[in-house]
Amino acid sequence: MAAFDTVEVTTDLLIIGGGMAACGAAVEAAYWAKKHNLKVALVDKAAMDRSGAVAMGLSALNQYVGMKAKGRTPEDYVHYVRSDLMGITRDDLVYDIARHVDGSVHLFEKWGLPIWKDKDGNYVFEGPWQLMINGESYKIVISEAAKNAMAQLGENGKIYERVFITEPLMDGDRIAGAVGFSVRENKFYVFKAKAVVDAMGGAVHVFRPRSVGEGLGRSWYPPFNTGSSAYFTLKAGAEMTCQEVRFIPVRFKDAYGPVGAWFLLFKAKATTALGGDYMVERRPELQNWAPYGLVKPVPANLRNYLMMLDQKEGKGPAYMRTEDAIGAIVGAVADEKERKKKLKEVESEAWEDFLDMTISQALLWAGSDIAPEQKPSEIQACEPYFIGSHSGASGAWISGPEDLQTEKSKKEYFWGYNGMATVKGLFCAGDASGASSHKFSDGSHAEGRIRAKSALAYVVDNPTQPKVDAAMVENLKKQILKPLDTFAQFKSQTDSPDINENYIRPKQFMFRLQKLMDEYAGGASTMFTTNKPALEAAIELLKLLREDSEKLAAENLHELMRCWENIHRMWQAESHVRTILFREETRWPGYYFRADKPKMDNENWKVFVNCKWDPKTNKWDVFKRDIIQIVE
Ligand code: FAD
Ligand code: ADX
Repeated sequence: MAAFDTVEVTTDLLIIGGGMAACGAAVEAAYWAKKHNLKVALVDKAAMDRSGAVAMGLSALNQYVGMKAKGRTPEDYVHYVRSDLMGITRDDLVYDIARHVDGSVHLFEKWGLPIWKDKDGNYVFEGPWQLMINGESYKIVISEAAKNAMAQLGENGKIYERVFITEPLMDGDRIAGAVGFSVRENKFYVFKAKAVVDAMGGAVHVFRPRSVGEGLGRSWYPPFNTGSSAYFTLKAGAEMTCQEVRFIPVRFKDAYGPVGAWFLLFKAKATTALGGDYMVERRPELQNWAPYGLVKPVPANLRNYLMMLDQKEGKGPAYMRTEDAIGAIVGAVADEKERKKKLKEVESEAWEDFLDMTISQALLWAGSDIAPEQKPSEIQACEPYFIGSHSGASGAWISGPEDLQTEKSKKEYFWGYNGMATVKGLFCAGDASGASSHKFSDGSHAEGRIRAKSALAYVVDNPTQPKVDAAMVENLKKQILKPLDTFAQFKSQTDSPDINENYIRPKQFMFRLQKLMDEYAGGASTMFTTNKPALEAAIELLKLLREDSEKLAAENLHELMRCWENIHRMWQAESHVRTILFREETRWPGYYFRADKPKMDNENWKVFVNCKWDPKTNKWDVFKRDIIQIVE
């Protein structure tokens, strides 16, 4: 076995991830830990300044309730989220984030994030809930605040960067920490903790991406998040929810540039190649998805669906009519000099929207001679992603806040600590927690703050350090490092290191996973369509893939990380396939279609579908849970 030092860290609270939710958790944890003289450790697989989905920056804060500025309430936000998710949402969780998110936004501004202001000093809204920002350095601002807060704890606050977390540590039914390895040095890490916040983001590259060749890593969702959140909770034996609710964004084609500013701020329309506006021409179709199809805004999956209907009839590609939108904004200015000024202003806003968060889209525009004021740009549905914080909903099933529960919901939605999974001491935030969509970057930060507070309350109430069995840790170490040994043992038995009957390299393993998910579980190549036999075939193929995961081989530390990333993806995939198989209806057309169950069935399926993997029996259980309306 390769020589690896074991580094042991004992802490009270372990925050896993360094993204939006984790940074929020760190800020809040520092406050409560100082009060109670407790230790906090945070571990990120990358460098926090540029890690996770906000790595490149963002161009908007997508959740601002504006309780003071607009007089809106968290109830208003619950209404929006509930209809956007076709009725499947946890009112208590969405409400809880909505009542705290404005506070996170105001902190961001205090920490130096430039939020657009109009001439009267008010925030500039992109759409009803979204604020425009100059967001290239967004993640650095957020990470700096988290680091400053942790520094306040002195020796009691530690940050570990470039350490990849692979497995949870358990003490019976209680979380006891996590293990992982450095991606830079031969070090195996054992984190022992009384409570853990899981905030490792969502997952991409579970499905075959549209990008090929050198462009392979280009996807809408950042390639760094690989299903570790879901893997961690599943392996700890926690219950998951909404694992079927993937997200398929429609984006500018090939470089995946954002569309929000175009639709909402610039009021652009999208048409198919033959010129028809599918949102107008296809409107009658929305009746079939009532009541959700009839609300405003039309739910994201239904907006996708109307476009896809045109494409299925061969009317694609679809285009964002940037030239018409800019023409309308500029044309409304009467004075010629002012009009020219306006044109420059809108042009620069359009480019900045990409430069703030999807730089490659600006490069693609430049490289393909696109001036948005002159010609339209193609848009397309991406591949499926798991991002419970955005317009998907996958994640762990967690306890809600006590004060928001009704008598009925308290029995189902509350078990002691806000945000705790069904495993004691394990808390989840951001993409890691399910059924609370549309929290986005700032809502995830707010949720992280909420989690850290209750996780530390749990630590205060449960002060004994869970037991960690040394033999179990040694076994995990062997298992986690095994791909390095496999490669070392067999590498000379071939003249091509990629092809070897004794092992499989992580990239080939990933291709196998993506191919089966794409072809059987409703990927882009089938127009997101699947059915029962196809899903059953996917489960068979996943079983074989899991057997072969024993033969993963890694040439170096980086590849070792790739091996484990793909194992994490595989578990995310299996929970997804099992859940869409169980839900015998089509509820989110535009995200996926069950061709054998093509309609929404509110009578039988207006429920959560939850799943669980049992560590003792190695068996999956998939079952329904009631939706309890808390907000009228
Ligand atoms: P992330 O912020 O992604 O953080 C995940 C963290 O986990 C990272 O630090 C990662 O390094 C770490 N990690 C992952 N695996 C491991 C592991 N195994 N071990 C240790 N650490 C690990 N929201 C907005 O408000 N406005 C926008 O304009 C906007 N645009 C978006 C554009 C894109 C392209 C995407 C993908 C998202 C966008 N969002 C936007 C949504 C927002 O980025 C997410 O909602 C938010 O980042 C979720 O926070 P999180 O903490 O759950 O995940
Ligand atoms: S982002 O995550 O990359 O910023 P995007 O640009 O699509 O996402 O959207 C930003 C916000 O605008 C999200 O809240 C999304 O739901 C909303 N949005 C985007 N397009 C529309 C639309 N056509 N109608 C209503 N809301 C929209």
